[in-house]
Amino acid sequence: MPTVRNSRERVFPRPFLKWVGGKSELLAEIIGELPPGPLELYVEPFLGGGAVFLELARLGRVRRAVLGDRNPELVDTWRAVQADPLPLIAAFDAWEKDEATYYAVRALDPRDLDVVQRAARVLYLNRVGFNGLYRLNSKGGFNVPYGRHKSPPRIDRDNLLAVHRALQGVTFVEGDFDDVLAHATPGATVYCDPPYWPVSETSSFACYDGTVFRRAEQERLAATFRGLPARGVYGVLSNADVPDTQALYEGLPFRTVWCRRSINSRTDRRGHVAELVVRTGPKPRVPD
Ligand SMILES: C[S@@+](CC[C@H](N)C(=O)[O-])C[C@H]1O[C@@H](n2cnc3c(N)ncnc32)[C@H](O)[C@@H]1O
Repeated sequence: MPTVRNSRERVFPRPFLKWVGGKSELLAEIIGELPPGPLELYVEPFLGGGAVFLELARLGRVRRAVLGDRNPELVDTWRAVQADPLPLIAAFDAWEKDEATYYAVRALDPRDLDVVQRAARVLYLNRVGFNGLYRLNSKGGFNVPYGRHKSPPRIDRDNLLAVHRALQGVTFVEGDFDDVLAHATPGATVYCDPPYWPVSETSSFACYDGTVFRRAEQERLAATFRGLPARGVYGVLSNADVPDTQALYEGLPFRTVWCRRSINSRTDRRGHVAELVVRTGPKPRVPD
């Protein structure tokens, strides 16, 4: 995969979607746990806004990548950017950024739209909706209200083009993390950023795509993660630092890092939260 450079020294590529649980805040801590040097095969099964992959791409550290997520509209959007961002930007620009248009676009059924329109709708809802969120309710509907903006939201064309370049050669998988991780062959490096440990079984906190990532899935993920070294794969995983996750990953090397949580719209609930960064074992050395 080519190193992504830009002449204006701006930091490209970077996430083009604002995603719940986005890892822009923790890039240094997470990347510091990965093997140094170029990664032959990088696999990320909870892609979301892809902050870690895009930073690795910006640093020219990824040779091949398999990226996946269970959210089909999200994966379609990444694929559309990979194919050609220009029609996407044109479709985004064609929609007014006012309240009436927002609710009309929100009401469109993605199944009636072609690939470009569907991806443009995700970008539009993400930009124009309140607080720049993309989250579905338990019926799979997008229910974020209109957000007021000082200036009309727009797409950063240069950044989207840089993301497009960084995605050439990437394989996308739409599906469960176990399906994505099946692509991790010996020598691969994996980073897992699952939805946070649920606050309660009925909690909607971990809900991104209309489904909740429950305790049983956290346990299934921990079992897969622990099995990576036997497959010759090195992995790093982050999750909320709570007693339950500490118990799940007990015995594996871990670090606690602090992350500013800015996603909460109530400023009194913003603050620093502890995040657990776990490794499958010793960090592989750079080959001589
Ligand atoms: C915490 S977010 C990832 C955020 C990402 N690291 C970023 O920087 O934006 C978790 C992602 O996992 C996805 N997800 C939830 N359950 C999944 C599953 N069983 N398999 C794969 N992906 C899943 C969600 O759609 C969501 O995009």
